[in-house]
Amino acid sequence: MDYWLWMYVVIGFSVYQHAGSLIVTDIFVPPIIDFRDNVTLSCSYDMGGHTLNSVKWYKDEKEFFRYSPMMHPVYMKFPVDGIQVSDGSNICNETTCKVDLSLLGKKSSGVYRCEVSEDAPHFKLTTKAANMTVAALPQNNPLISSFHSMYHIDEFVTANCSSDYSSPPATLTWYINGEQALYGELQPRIEHTIPAHDYNLQRQILQTHFYLNGPRFYNPTRILELKCVAEIENFPTLRRESTLKAFLVQDDDNLNNQMLLSSGYQNKSEHIVPHTILLIFAKILTFLLHQNKIFS
Ligand SMILES: *[C@@H]1O[C@H](CO)[C@@H](O)[C@H](O)[C@H]1NC(C)=O
Ligand SMILES: *[C@@H]1O[C@H](CO)[C@@H](O)[C@H](O)[C@H]1NC(C)=O
Ligand SMILES: *[C@@H]1O[C@H](CO)[C@@H](O)[C@H](O)[C@H]1NC(C)=O
Repeated sequence: MDYWLWMYVVIGFSVYQHAGSLIVTDIFVPPIIDFRDNVTLSCSYDMGGHTLNSVKWYKDEKEFFRYSPMMHPVYMKFPVDGIQVSDGSNICNETTCKVDLSLLGKKSSGVYRCEVSEDAPHFKLTTKAANMTVAALPQNNPLISSFHSMYHIDEFVTANCSSDYSSPPATLTWYINGEQALYGELQPRIEHTIPAHDYNLQRQILQTHFYLNGPRFYNPTRILELKCVAEIENFPTLRRESTLKAFLVQDDDNLNNQMLLSSGYQNKSEHIVPHTILLIFAKILTFLLHQNKIFS
């Protein structure tokens, strides 16, 4: 009985081994990264019961790293332009292979590919690739300047937004009380470029200039909110933004103030009311007297 059970296990296992197929389940290569960072690339695979022969990492089809658990040495590095593998921190096994890189600027950008091969007799290969761009990413949120803390309705507002220096450059968008600024409310954008670290770093400056009038500004919160968003095309996670708020003095604020003032005045000098009544009374009297004069 035990013998048959054992046979089922052995048969089951060998069927599983043959049915399983080798696949790269995942590759982790950041699509964009700052040149000042280090990066860990990782590749995960399912051997489907087969024995791992090797994992090879390529940059632009040039092999720079190899893990072959049955060979000596187990880890091998090959010189490739733009690649500097960090020492001693590479961890690979039957399911995952990680490689740490120190970035070398723009030339570390490229297509990174992980290739996994099984052992004899089939030596089947499987592979996955991903692009990585090494960029000079903005380090700070966009900066809003020349914006005041208080504005009056019917006033002009001018504010500048400048992005941090970056390559690729950021694109700026203004939002006024949550709505994107209209084309006519924007000045032509200004660009400043400086070469640094083999990049042409660019700063964008966008001025908004608009008239505080219309339903957009008559809101119960009496807040004028300006938001500037800096985005890098194709990389939505790199979005950065700044928001500033100002108090908005509306026309009815002035009216309310006048009412407050006059009611205060009335409360303090109550004699004004009887005085007015007396005046009216006197006018009626004069009128009646005048009438009497005419009739008499
Ligand atoms: C990158 O790694 C190197 C060593 O490989 C280290 O000296 C450096 O501080 C690391 N840089 C960052 C930003 O982590
Ligand atoms: C392989 O390495 C990864 C981390 O690199 C670890 O999470 C995993 O448990 C390891 N697997 C085995 C079978 O050792
Ligand atoms: C890498 O980027 C190039 C150019 O945008 C594209 O043609 C290619 O398909 C990308 N490769 C991968 C593996 O995503």
